[in-house]
Amino acid sequence: MGIVGGGLGSFIGRVHTMAAGLDHRCTLVAGAFSSDPEKSKKTAPTYGVDESRAYGSFEAMLDAESRLPEEDRIDFISITTPNHTHYEIAKAAVEAGFNVICDKPMTFDLAQAEALLKTVENSDVVFALTHNYTGYPMIRQAREMIQAGELGTINAIRSQYIQGWLAERVEDGDHKQASWRTDPAKSGAAGAFGDIATHAFNLGRYVTGELPESVSCHLKTFVEGRRLDDYGTAVIRYQNGALGTVTASQISHGRENDFELEVDGTLGSLKWRQESPNEMVVRRNGQPAQIYTRAPGSGTMTPLAEASCRLPAGHPEGFYGAFSNIYAAAFDDIARRAAGESFERRDTVYPNVYDGVEGMLFIEQCVASHQQNSAWMPLSHPAARR
Ligand SMILES: NC(=O)c1ccc[n+]([C@@H]2O[C@H](COP(=O)([O-])OP(=O)(O)OC[C@H]3O[C@@H](n4cnc5c(N)ncnc54)[C@H](O)[C@@H]3O)[C@@H](O)[C@H]2O)c1
Repeated sequence: MGIVGGGLGSFIGRVHTMAAGLDHRCTLVAGAFSSDPEKSKKTAPTYGVDESRAYGSFEAMLDAESRLPEEDRIDFISITTPNHTHYEIAKAAVEAGFNVICDKPMTFDLAQAEALLKTVENSDVVFALTHNYTGYPMIRQAREMIQAGELGTINAIRSQYIQGWLAERVEDGDHKQASWRTDPAKSGAAGAFGDIATHAFNLGRYVTGELPESVSCHLKTFVEGRRLDDYGTAVIRYQNGALGTVTASQISHGRENDFELEVDGTLGSLKWRQESPNEMVVRRNGQPAQIYTRAPGSGTMTPLAEASCRLPAGHPEGFYGAFSNIYAAAFDDIARRAAGESFERRDTVYPNVYDGVEGMLFIEQCVASHQQNSAWMPLSHPAARR
């Protein structure tokens, strides 16, 4: 594994390395941990990476690693830097033949996402996008139950991602994560909507498979002087007639990572919350609520959900495990590629470049709708997958 980002004081890079290593299928051996070469060198020992492979830039890493004998060089790179850098790094890595695990949102804007899609399609690399919530066993259970028709026809998809950490102007201090997220030149056209609503939209798509048709959105910046939205709601019309809502907040006092998904079907409804990720509630009129738990071996779990567990029931699994499930499926394809075998490019277990394009379309159309008094904007993309 080689990583871009993950320098001292950063957030998600370290999560990537933990998740990638959870099943002992890879070792972090190289990194462009920071755009500052000194910081990159200083970070290397905190990961047990030899200083000789702590690079001062992603270009230097790709160049040096490409020259190493195949058995020594990195097999993939993980992109864990702020949004405005993803495209350049991903494009260079794919063109150099490296498999890529990229964090979301995939790129800075839709044009970059569509260009990256072409680059990936013209290559034979594996490309995964870490919409990590799709890796939770109970989310996969929800998807498999819906695919089996247990909820009937899907009528409504409600998702909300509610945080409170940006209720004050923390970006005025030296809060690394807040400062680039509230800067339009680094975050993209949206704030909370690019950062977390994109996860909420993706999860509804992943769990139901329903294809969106159009979106109407209202965004709001509550904290004075902030340049991007910190709150908003989108209403989505799905092609099957279902209605969806996506609400994102970063200004709700006391709320942490309160990400919730509810789906209503003609035969039942379900609800899942990421702050208690090992449970999912299914309800049907006239019957007591059923609480499904992450209980491998109990006979209550669907196949992919069961295969996504590492611990027996009752021992909490969470964020790292879900993240790791994205890595595990990507590793299967990386191994297939290395063995010269064919692998699925579009309908993968993990979110991929097609989901990335759809995510960027969602962000862009939400902003466009908001700017036009919440007008309905098209939300279907030819690259979208079921
Ligand atoms: N999937 C998730 O749940 C999740 C959670 C948090 C963040 N993210 C995404 O991950 C990315 C990073 O977010 P974060 O909160 O970890 O940010 P962060 O500010 O904590 O860390 C970013 C790191 O990238 C480094 N960096 C910046 N530019 C670089 C460059 N050109 N070359 C090498 N290193 C560079 C910084 O020095 C820092 O170490 C964002 O795209 C964000 O949207 C995803």
